[in-house]
Amino acid sequence: MSSPLDPPDPSEAAECAAADRPSRREALRVLLAGAMGAGGILGAWDELSAAPRRDVPVATMEELPPGTVVSSEYAGQPILVSNDEGEVTVMLALCTHEACQVEWSPGQAAMVCPCHDARFDLRGAVLSGPPPSPLLVLPSRVAEGTVYVVE
Ligand code: FES
Repeated sequence: MSSPLDPPDPSEAAECAAADRPSRREALRVLLAGAMGAGGILGAWDELSAAPRRDVPVATMEELPPGTVVSSEYAGQPILVSNDEGEVTVMLALCTHEACQVEWSPGQAAMVCPCHDARFDLRGAVLSGPPPSPLLVLPSRVAEGTVYVVE
């Protein structure tokens, strides 16, 4: 009988090596299965990425010439859609100060919060007043003359 502290017997080492072969094969199978599983996850991710996005139309480019803003609604909330020299921005029309509704003021060429007289530029940046941050910009895209909020 041998002890774990005894030096290895060369014949036992050969037996162990033979005994290891199935477990190495098993390890390879597990690795391959894992790789296939990862491939499955990647395949599912590709399918999800390719799935049609739920884009919500909120304005048309026809009603949004450069330098203008239109009011709209998204998910029951007021939004503003602006066209700043071709750069379309969709923003939540709630002031970041105390959530009053911001409106487009063509005369001031800015979006204005009536509560504390704040002003925002066409991309939602604070021009003046107490708001601590810009208007919340929603992900959007323009396709075939329509502005969509991308969900
Ligand atoms: S709520 Fe808009 S400036 Fe105060």
